[in-house]
This record gives sequence, C-alpha cells and structure tokens, in this order.
Amino acid sequence: MLAAAAVRVALDQATESVTTARTLLPGTPASAEVTEALLGAAIRSVPRWHFAMLNDLERNDAFAVALERVVPPGAHVLDIGSGTGLLAMMAVKAGAGSVTTCEQNPVLAAVAEQIIAAHGLAEVITVVPKLSTDLVVGVDLPRRADVIVSEIVDCGLVGEGVLPTVRHAREHLLEPGGVLLPDSAVLYGALLDSQAVDGLNRVQSAAGLDVRLLNALSTRGHFPVRLPTWPHRLISAETEIARFDFAADSLLDESVEVGIEVTEAGTAHGLAVWFDLRLGGGIALRNAPDNLASHWMQAFVPFAEPRPHAAGERVRIAFSWTGGRLSARRLDFASAVEGI
Ligand SMILES: C[S@@+](CC[C@H](N)C(=O)[O-])C[C@H]1O[C@@H](n2cnc3c(N)ncnc32)[C@H](O)[C@@H]1O
Repeated sequence: MLAAAAVRVALDQATESVTTARTLLPGTPASAEVTEALLGAAIRSVPRWHFAMLNDLERNDAFAVALERVVPPGAHVLDIGSGTGLLAMMAVKAGAGSVTTCEQNPVLAAVAEQIIAAHGLAEVITVVPKLSTDLVVGVDLPRRADVIVSEIVDCGLVGEGVLPTVRHAREHLLEPGGVLLPDSAVLYGALLDSQAVDGLNRVQSAAGLDVRLLNALSTRGHFPVRLPTWPHRLISAETEIARFDFAADSLLDESVEVGIEVTEAGTAHGLAVWFDLRLGGGIALRNAPDNLASHWMQAFVPFAEPRPHAAGERVRIAFSWTGGRLSARRLDFASAVEGI
C-alpha cells in the first residue's frame, strides 16, 4: 500500500520535472527566470560533497603522491570521473604525456574543461562528457590507457559504482599490464550499539503517536554517519569484511559470511563500516572513525532489528554488496564463551 503510494508520488514528480524541462527547451527566450531555472538545475545536479571532497587535503595529497609514484613518464592516462579535472591535472604534473578525462555530469564536464584551460593544460588533457562505460577507444581516447585513475568511492566504498566501473575499464580501456590507481581496497566493520544512529533510519512513536508505518521507507542499505558525533559504542573489534583486488578479482555483486566476536555486552543495531583504499606506491586512505579530517564519513549498515548480545558471542553475518549498496543480515550467533 505504502510502497504503491510512494511510487505514485515519484511518478507525479517526474511528470512535473518533464513539464518544467519542456519550458526550458532550446529556442525558449533566455529570460532571467529561465536563466535562473537553468542555473538552479545545474546546481542541483552537482552533489554538495564535491566541495568537502576538494577541501580534503589528505585525500588530495594522497592522490598527488600516488600519481607521482606510479605514472610512467609520457604515459597516456585515463581519469574516470573528472569532477573539476583535479586528478587529470595532477596526472600531467606527475609526468603523463596525455590525459583523457571523462565525466558523466555535463555541468561538471564543462567546469572541468574551463579549469583545465585556465591552467594552460587544454593541449594535454581532453575532457569527454561521457560515462566511462560509453567511451570508445580510437574515438574518445586515442588508445587504451597505460594508467587508469579514478576516485569514485563513497563512505562504504561501493556506493558510487567503483566495482562495475573498474571491471569495465580494466577490460575495455586499459592496456594489458597497465596500472590501476587505486589498485585495491579492504572493508572493515564493527558491531555498533547506538540507538541514536539507529534512530536516523527507524522510528516508533513521535509525540506519543505511532508513526512506525514510515519504517517501510527506511534506507535498506548503507548510509553515511559521522560516528564520533553520535553517542555510540563499538561492541566488537575492527574486523576485516571484504578485500578487493581491482586488477584480479571479479568485482561482481557478492555476499560473504563474516563472523564477528562481541567484545562488550550491548545491543547491535548494525555495522559501522569503513575502508582502506590502496592507491599504489605505498599510499592508502582510510575513513575509520578516528579520522576526523576525512570528508568521508563512516557507513552505517543497519540490521533489520536491533538485538542484545553478551560478551563472547560470535555473530554470523551475511554481508553483501549489491548494486552499489552494502547490506548485512544476521544469520544467527553462537557462544564463544562456555555457559552462554
Ligand atoms: C568523487 S568525484 C571525484 C572527482 C575528481 N576525480 C576528484 O578526485 O576531485 C567522482 C566524479 O566521477 C563522476 N563519475 C562517477 N562514475 C563515473 C563514470 N563511470 N564515468 C564518468 N564519470 C563518472 C561523478 O559524476 C563525479 O563527478
């Protein structure tokens, strides 16, 4: 019932957007209102996190140093996801002979083109306003790339499509033996006891009124949480959950079984998850809860229901990455301590 109502609302909104777009078709006189509406649409198309991301000094330095270390002199580099063109320009500084950078968002592609030109790099960097999976070698880039660089990871690593994008790129766009930057990643997680974090995605009553119907619209997969800003306890040690070798692994959607030992009694509302992104050349980026400077928050992966645990229990979890979404389902839990 509720889902059908939500779909109907979404369809109504889509129809409204199409009607608005029709009024903005080329040929319409560019009144101040139209210009304002177009600017508004352009602003809405660019996620806010681009600003925080570009101000993340640790991230920027890590990519600059890794590129310095892995780009062979004169190499042809493909940068997937231009944003402002930052990594493409870094690649040139690192010694690339030519760079192709592609960007799915046409507004950002236009911004990148202007920034690159303003730095006098338009001769060596070509901006292609396309999804990487639509690039054609010999048309959009002169040949397969010697190095492919990308930064398309969210707080839970997989949310911006890094796995299918790299899988496609290494098969269709990279020279055999070419370099992938980043080259691998590890996901870590810990059992999280936090009613406050759980309350970002689950409700019982508000002002004494039962509003639980809203829970049908709870986020099903992971979402970003700046863990230290919420009352919480990690009731297990940091545990490795999954490991990805970008050159060698299948990078397909998958589910793995993970066992996590409860180290302190508490209620597990879900998993707090973070990554270790290995760029190559010995450089890595980590968004663990103690890294307050990182623009990447931690990922909260909610359980269907909170459940209390005693210290020593081993919780078995089916952990999946599917369509850019992390999810976790408790299988059961076994006592690792005699008598529990
Ligand atoms: C996290 S931002 C990074 C931007 C820039 N590379 C940087 O590091 O500052 C990722 C960008 O990649 C773009 N993007 C993601 N996947 C893409 C793909 N497969 N092909 C082209 N652009 C992509 C997004 O639109 C976004 O602008």
